[in-house]
Amino acid sequence: MMRNDKTNPTTTDAGIPVASDDNSLTIGPDGPILLHDHYLIEQMANFNRERIPERQPHAKGSGAFGYFQVTEDVSKYTKAALFQPGVKTDVVMRFSTVAGERGSPDTWRDPRGFAIKFYTSEGNYDMVGNNTPMFFIRDPMKFQHFIRSQKRRADNNLRDHDMQWDFWTLSPESAHQVTWLMGDRGIPKSWRKMNGYSSHTYLWVNAKGEKFWVKYHFKSDLGVECLTQQDGDALAGIDGDYHTRDLFDAIKQGNFPSWTLFMQIMPFAEAESYRYNPFDLTKVWPHADYPLIKVGKLVLDRNPADNHAEIEQAAFEPNNLVPGIGLSPDKMLIGRIFAYADAHRARLGVNYKQIPVNAPHSPVNSYSKDGAMRINKVSDPVYAPNSKGGPKADGERYPTDSAWSASGEMVRASYTLRKDDDDYGQANALINKVMDQAARDRLVSNVAGHLLAGVSEPVLSRAFEYWRHIDAVIGQRIEEKVKAGQAGK
Ligand code: NDP
Ligand code: HEM
Repeated sequence: MMRNDKTNPTTTDAGIPVASDDNSLTIGPDGPILLHDHYLIEQMANFNRERIPERQPHAKGSGAFGYFQVTEDVSKYTKAALFQPGVKTDVVMRFSTVAGERGSPDTWRDPRGFAIKFYTSEGNYDMVGNNTPMFFIRDPMKFQHFIRSQKRRADNNLRDHDMQWDFWTLSPESAHQVTWLMGDRGIPKSWRKMNGYSSHTYLWVNAKGEKFWVKYHFKSDLGVECLTQQDGDALAGIDGDYHTRDLFDAIKQGNFPSWTLFMQIMPFAEAESYRYNPFDLTKVWPHADYPLIKVGKLVLDRNPADNHAEIEQAAFEPNNLVPGIGLSPDKMLIGRIFAYADAHRARLGVNYKQIPVNAPHSPVNSYSKDGAMRINKVSDPVYAPNSKGGPKADGERYPTDSAWSASGEMVRASYTLRKDDDDYGQANALINKVMDQAARDRLVSNVAGHLLAGVSEPVLSRAFEYWRHIDAVIGQRIEEKVKAGQAGK
């Protein structure tokens, strides 16, 4: 809409033309304001209600629209409509940091969210991943505690490294993700220059009903680039919205960011005997065991026109799975199936799927009815089964095929350990197999700097021990550097 143009006169929200954008209605120019200036009241009331609750984790972020196009033939692995040869699907994507609030700096050290909603011909498919292929914990019972330890203290409302390391060192399963986070990739240079991973293992099912365990890897076509701790700290002061601006400006200039999707694919039966528990989110599948298989390209080519309506109100939920894609027994993933839709109902209201950015581009034939802010028209019959021509589930066309079996007593226990399952081995591989000497030096410096910023005993000694378990040399170097820092050297 054109602004300051009298061919588009200002109206109230009810479309009624108003007399002034500048002056309230008063008794004489110097007199009191009249209560029946309902336009003034509407402006004030709307302003007071502009903020909606921010996301609990992942509050700071932004995103864009684009498409995903399949370039290869992976139909032997999945019947999902969006992954059939040549298919092009509209997407909305949101990138985020995890622990900071809505106004927090983009360049704090943190994992980044990498959330994609695919508007497929068989409903919305949400791949709600991160820029890291692993996670800090392996049981959803600990997620709430983990996030609280990364956010703010109760007393002074400050973030607190002591609290963060207290949680991490008492949760040794965090070692792999913490090593990754403290390494170079812990502060990306740009959302355009980072990879995205499903992290979780999912199930793919083909048209014959054959099943495969899969992990998603979206690799940036611009390559991976990162910021040093110093650069990240400096940018946090100069431009807190550095990544948000970078994405928006790039798309505006026609530099459309893109990623190539590769999958790791494990035949269903191999999960039982694999040397790692393939559903443990704190682990990756080494590429040598399951090489990357190319699928297609993800491109972002359109900025939001209204960030609140299209990005802040976007609701990503791992429970949005389409035929041909299913869950795995990863306990974290199963926990997330409840958490997101619940968060959206609290944050956006029960009819959040009717907000245009969340609405599928395929028909909705559900029996949901009424509730606050319902927009979609509901028609009779409003119940099933019915003999009145209402929608009917088609179990033949859409069988419950994304299933697996489980048995055993009801317990509260960690996963059964496999041959190579331990908390430190893959963190050690990251340090010694993937990082070069300069990257290891930066790792030591990043960890020591973090520990020197407010970590006290007994947590500090536990942190040295934690790093010695990951790698004896790195542990020793971190301890020496912290002690030198404490001594002012
Ligand atoms: P590979 O040598 O085949 O893979 C190593 C991968 O590490 C690279 O492909 C790259 O992932 C990623 N990487 C490169 N530099 C860094 C860095 N500074 N910080 C974090 N990741 C980096 O070995 P494996 O598959 O056996 O994995 C060895 C270790 O690499 C793992 O323990 C894990 O920590 C890490 N890793 C493994 C991934 C996997 O899925 N197997 C994915 C990412 C990391 P990419 O190609 O995705 O950019
Ligand atoms: C956001 C819960 C693990 C990626 C959120 C939100 C909740 C949540 C409640 C806010 C949703 C909203 O208000 O819109 C959980 C729980 C987890 C978990 C309970 C584990 C049990 C993970 C993991 C990943 C992840 C393992 C990545 C692999 C994200 C992303 C967002 C998010 C990307 C932001 C989505 C957006 O941009 O709107 N999570 N989470 N989460 N989570 Fe998780």
